[in-house]
Amino acid sequence: MPLDIVVGTQWGDEGKGRVVDLLSSRADIVARYNGGDNAGHTVTVGKQTFKLHLIPSGIIHPRTTGVLGNGVVIYPPTLLTEIDMLRNNQVEINPQRLRISHAAHLITPAHRALDRAQEAARGREQIGTTGRGIGPAYTDKAARRGIRMEEMLDETAFHRRMIEHVEEANQFLTAIYHAEALDPLQIADEYTRAASVLREYITDTSALLWEALQRGQLVLAEGAQGTLLDLDHGTYPFVTSSSPTAPGVLPGLGVGFGYVNRVIGVTKAFQTRVGAGPFPTEVFGETATRLRGTGANPWDEFGTTTGRPRRVGWLDGVLLRYAVRINGLTELVVTKLDVLSGLPEIRICTAYRINGQEYTDLPLGPADLSPFEPVYEEMPGWGGDISGARTWNDLPEEAQNYLTRISQISGVPVCQVSVGPEREQVVDAQCA
Ligand code: IMP
Repeated sequence: MPLDIVVGTQWGDEGKGRVVDLLSSRADIVARYNGGDNAGHTVTVGKQTFKLHLIPSGIIHPRTTGVLGNGVVIYPPTLLTEIDMLRNNQVEINPQRLRISHAAHLITPAHRALDRAQEAARGREQIGTTGRGIGPAYTDKAARRGIRMEEMLDETAFHRRMIEHVEEANQFLTAIYHAEALDPLQIADEYTRAASVLREYITDTSALLWEALQRGQLVLAEGAQGTLLDLDHGTYPFVTSSSPTAPGVLPGLGVGFGYVNRVIGVTKAFQTRVGAGPFPTEVFGETATRLRGTGANPWDEFGTTTGRPRRVGWLDGVLLRYAVRINGLTELVVTKLDVLSGLPEIRICTAYRINGQEYTDLPLGPADLSPFEPVYEEMPGWGGDISGARTWNDLPEEAQNYLTRISQISGVPVCQVSVGPEREQVVDAQCA
């Protein structure tokens, strides 16, 4: 059963990219199954930092094939830029190493313009989207008028289809949102040029994955965003428009139930969120600045895609337990433990309180978290630098206690812990 899944347990930005990078050394295929270039995965290898939005971060390993599954939405300009960037950094990209599903949908400039126009129209109710056209692209998919990668295979028909698509979007943009119309011909020409490059990467990736799994190869499914941004199971409506949770892997890649082995949840040692929406354990002031960093380091809490400062807070155990349930997690990887070093005390939310009653699990899902007051447990912090720790025994007792508490609250073992941005800065916790 060689399909392993890596998902975020929070609102994205948990550090999945580097966890996938770690696990990819053994994987034959790394496949993205949801989202688009709203995601941002940062991987540091030696002096090189790769920021990827679309191509699976596992592709940095020389023997791994990258797959963009049918559940992904693809903005061709980003894809072409990433292919160039990787090639310029000596990562080989060719149609054998990167495969794109014929059934993946395209994001177009019209989707991006609609995303921005719809956000502006929401006024104070804004979701805080990344502006990458994600919602409108998935809207077209669900409305059965989306454009799929396979349409790129017929140049003339594709060019015509792009013109029709932009013309239709222009009606919405101008009449409803009073935004500027886009140039259909210019966009159709640009996308037809992109099609001539991308054509040879297109294949039936579901069949490719099936054959690999049948052969006993290891496939790693790489989630983008996180559990709480899931369209169905997240903090609706402050969510993305895809299914970042583990169940989303099956429709997002076109694979069946039988192959799933490990479901690895990545959780930051504290909580972050970009965009709007309730955040019960959010902190402000000095502690927030301390957790967020200044932005001077690539790993500070500023969005990889938009550069926005992330909202920060204490680890939310109620939401973590929820993520365990929705994803069927088998284990946890805790990232950025080193960021907590030096704090005199660390808080962890173990329950929510409302009207004098305490809940350790959500009574009605996470859509409306605003009425809840977090109930905290306080644990002593640890001083000193833990970035050199590689085994459980290298960690200070207080850090071990914090991790043990995370595994008690979540009900699943913590198997690995990252203590710095470099590939090797990982503690093998032996599933504590
Ligand atoms: P969209 O996916 O651009 O439509 O944005 C919807 C919500 O998801 C917004 O709150 C975004 O900030 C958030 N979001 C989307 N992608 C990511 C991500 O990769 N990390 C963190 N938040 C994200």
